[in-house]
Amino acid sequence: MLNFILCGAPGCGKGTQSTLLVEKYNLKHLSTGDLLREEINAKTEVGIKADSYISVGNLAPDDMIIAMLLKAVDENASKVCGFILDGFPRTVAQASALEDAFEARGIEIPYLIDMQVDKKELITRLIKRGETSGRSDDNLDTIKKRLEIYETKTAPVNDFYKNIGKYRLVDGMGEVEEIFERISAIIDKEQLSKCKENKQFAY
Ligand code: AP5
Ligand code: MG
Repeated sequence: MLNFILCGAPGCGKGTQSTLLVEKYNLKHLSTGDLLREEINAKTEVGIKADSYISVGNLAPDDMIIAMLLKAVDENASKVCGFILDGFPRTVAQASALEDAFEARGIEIPYLIDMQVDKKELITRLIKRGETSGRSDDNLDTIKKRLEIYETKTAPVNDFYKNIGKYRLVDGMGEVEEIFERISAIIDKEQLSKCKENKQFAY
């Protein structure tokens, strides 16, 4: 399978790039933020609980997120060429649970692509999106809180992937198309090295 994580601070372009990458590589896009917003819109028990975290910029509890993500993985694993995990894992506990769960299912452990964008640019993008998105977390106070939580809780996930040799850095500044080319180059290189190692090439 072709599995990777698109990671980076709020507003770095995870959703935007995932949409393009899904088309190019025929993958399933799993965004935990989107899954939670679906639950909120459907007013499920999970959604009602999640809303109280999302609307103030906090992370939802690990156990809730892990269960939701693995359910989506299990529903799709036999039907797709691979997964883009967008916004998951966001804590070291989630990264560790993902590794265990994928190992247990015989699914290749994904590598992590970290999209780096300047803080000022992140705030500009999210404030602009907030004019039309209707997202409860796209306002300046909550954006600041999300960025703070990213630094304290999510940035350490990068070290987890560095330690297992699966961390890839990409410059997330610039035009959408040029960032897409940079990410595509990383994916193509990964696939090529799999081929050279004589591992499964088809994805
Ligand atoms: P989530 O939905 O994942 O939000 P996020 O990480 O804050 O990221 P965004 O979706 O806001 O931004 P993005 O990186 O997708 O950027 P986008 O492409 O939209 O999570 C929301 C909340 O859910 C969390 O705060 C948390 O509460 C909860 N949650 C989710 N996952 C969780 C987990 N694993 N554990 C616990 N809690 C979890 O782009 C942003 C804007 O910029 C758009 O308007 C876009 O058009 C624009 N844009 C994109 N690229 C460019 C570019 N190159 N130049 C100019 N503008 C651009
Ligand atoms: Mg997103």
